[in-house]
Amino acid sequence: MSYARITGTGGYLPENVMTNDDIAKFVDTNDQWIRERTGIEQRHIVVDGQTTVDLAEGASRLAIEAAGIDSSDIDLIILATSTPDKIFPSSACILQARLGIHGCPAFDIQAVCSGFVYALTVAEKFIKSGSSKKALVVGAEVFSKILNWEDRATCVLFGDGAGAVILEASEETGILSTHIHADGQYEDLLRVPYGIADGYDQVKAGLAFVEMRGNEVFKVAVNTLGRIVDETLAANNMMKSDIDWLVPHQANIRIISATAKKLKMSMDQVVVTVNKHGNTSAASVPLALDVAVRDGRIKKNELLLLEAFGGGFTWGSVLVRF
Ligand code: UT7
Repeated sequence: MSYARITGTGGYLPENVMTNDDIAKFVDTNDQWIRERTGIEQRHIVVDGQTTVDLAEGASRLAIEAAGIDSSDIDLIILATSTPDKIFPSSACILQARLGIHGCPAFDIQAVCSGFVYALTVAEKFIKSGSSKKALVVGAEVFSKILNWEDRATCVLFGDGAGAVILEASEETGILSTHIHADGQYEDLLRVPYGIADGYDQVKAGLAFVEMRGNEVFKVAVNTLGRIVDETLAANNMMKSDIDWLVPHQANIRIISATAKKLKMSMDQVVVTVNKHGNTSAASVPLALDVAVRDGRIKKNELLLLEAFGGGFTWGSVLVRF
């Protein structure tokens, strides 16, 4: 049987860093509140003209290099984003052109912060069915463009960035299981309230910003991530102690710690980037994975649990033998 194996990772962050003190200069907040409530110390923010595809291209080139393949070997491109460069063509198609790839399927997935877990799940199905041999799977976002920079409840939380992996067909074990879910009834808790349906006027008027009832989202996130951990372990007949690394969505250190506690894992086995990146939505899981692969913490054959929760609500997990 053929598995889908991650053979290369890449991450790309805009150079421009915004600290908590920088934000406190224009909105009523402070470094202590942000650190204590979220774990965030700083985030990277694009400069004018820098887009989701720019970040995706940077991450993709590094993942391609790490996998030791040529761009022309790629036969599937899936890009997860809620902040695409344009309404169409898809950011995946724009990325495909940038990478000089022609002909393979390329499409975007929109599942907000769970986008990369969704994209990896879809790519794995393509590989397992034999439709694809080498897939480029990317999570890339410029959430800074959809934030109300006067709303302290949201603007301190997010950052921009991109992460990518190459997923290849292999006889060696790779992805062991994927689990994705959604429940559309929670739209009021987390959303961008305007879009095409409004004739785009509100978007043009600058009203299409993230709205979140943070405290309520927090509670659902902690409970839901606890359930997805149980579902993943049960599906694989595994125990909590089998997992070497938790690579969680990076929304809030308190949510991450709660999931680690549920798994009885020490924080030394949890990849944390929320302090440096903030919440980069679909980019957060592949960015965290890339950081821990490149600094040597995650090693070949280790067992990784990737998980995410976000707008929709959407949530999911991927269990991977790296
Ligand atoms: O990635 C997608 C999923 N998203 C998430 O998972 C995010 C989930 N939610 C969270 O991470 C947390 O709920 C937040 C970090 C957003 C907020 O933390 P909280 O502990 O739930 O705080 P809160 O919203 O209950 O607000 C507590 C207080 C309020 O003041 P009062 O009413 O107690 O006087 C807020 O007005 O903190 C105030 N506050 C702030 N103070 C300083 C809210 N934002 C700020 C701020 N700076 N930036």
